[in-house]
Amino acid sequence: MAETKGLAGVVVADTRKSKVDGENGILYYGGYNILDLAENASFEEVAYLLWNDQLPTQSELNAFEDQVNTEMQVPGKVLDALKMLPKNTHPMAALRTAVSMLGCFDDEADDPSLEANQRKALRLLAKTPTLVAAWAQIREGKEPITPNVGVSLAENFMYMFKGGVEPTQTEIDATNVYLILLADHGFNASTFTSRVVTSTEGDMYSAVTAAIGALKGPKHGGANEAAMNMFMEIGSEDAVEDFFYDEVKGNDRKIMGIGHRVYKAPDPRATVLREHADALAGNGANEKWFNIASKLEDLALADQYFIERKLFANVDYYSAIVLYSLGIEPDIMTPLFAMSRMAGWTAHIIEQWNDNRLIRPRANYIGDVDLEWLPIEER
Ligand SMILES: CC(C)(COP(=O)(O)OP(=O)(O)OC[C@H]1O[C@@H](n2cnc3c(N)ncnc32)[C@H](O)[C@@H]1OP(=O)(O)O)[C@@H](O)C(=O)NCCC(=O)NCCS
Repeated sequence: MAETKGLAGVVVADTRKSKVDGENGILYYGGYNILDLAENASFEEVAYLLWNDQLPTQSELNAFEDQVNTEMQVPGKVLDALKMLPKNTHPMAALRTAVSMLGCFDDEADDPSLEANQRKALRLLAKTPTLVAAWAQIREGKEPITPNVGVSLAENFMYMFKGGVEPTQTEIDATNVYLILLADHGFNASTFTSRVVTSTEGDMYSAVTAAIGALKGPKHGGANEAAMNMFMEIGSEDAVEDFFYDEVKGNDRKIMGIGHRVYKAPDPRATVLREHADALAGNGANEKWFNIASKLEDLALADQYFIERKLFANVDYYSAIVLYSLGIEPDIMTPLFAMSRMAGWTAHIIEQWNDNRLIRPRANYIGDVDLEWLPIEER
């Protein structure tokens, strides 16, 4: 058996982008604690930090925000192509397809120079929210909304997602915090995927398209959707104990949004998101979802099996409640994760280009060797 199954604990490269201190539950982007960034920064500021390894000055930020804003529109032909997809296409599949198509419309797609990669990263960051919001409209038979001039990514996304209705400041702030918290996370599966593609000297669009595919799975970014579906399946606070004892303890079902490969202490992003989920769900229609999540987490935190394995709520657990409270349907939750992680993916892709070596591990072969060749009629 391979000693490093799932590459657990294997360090494959240096990075300046983020440090995940799993033992102490601390996350840094470019040296800054995620808690400070979530409280004080804008998502644009965080993207700038990840790409430049330093925070922008006010004038640098203004120029950067302007550049992002001018790149938010997507080619009309990409929107036309989205309109041809079956309406029940999963939003992550629609996003994967649309981002791949963006590459076909970018003259610099195959230019690997640093300057071209920086321009492509900016385009991808700016256009992804437009694509996510566009598919939310198109699948309901509506026209996509054009992004507003002069407003942030968080505000523009909510504006487009809500069909051209101005979002509230609470909605903008919660979206901004969500986008900051998920922007980067060491060598997670999708970021690693993007670096593997880049290590072959593959282009940035190929790398982020592959990363979107990796993010979609429920063991990674798809966990927010799976967590919300699980809360909905539970349905009421009264049903939480039965779910925990019958399904999780009795039937070996995993609690989606709990557990992490690196964190053996509470995930700091989950702590922040829990507070936002509590505040957003408030006493309104979504309070029940927060209460279900909170009660299920309490049962897990008090259970010996979970204690021994150091299993805590991860970023996706309370993300589900935050996003649902913002009106995001479960299957659009992972695309929001992609909107955020696009900052990290592109930062890592550029870092990989700057000091590249082909990523090519080996496998421990456990099959037979030297078998005798038999003609097909004798097998
Ligand atoms: C995130 C995850 C994939 C990590 O996987 P991993 O590092 O390979 O860890 P394992 O799956 O081997 O888990 C270690 C142990 O904890 C258990 N465990 C892990 N997550 C669990 C969960 N959510 N519910 C119940 N048990 C869980 C495993 O069954 C395993 O038990 P064992 O030691 O008896 O075999 C895993 O925790 C998981 O599937 N969580 C739910 C999905 C999720 O939230 N994904 C988003 C991650 S940010």
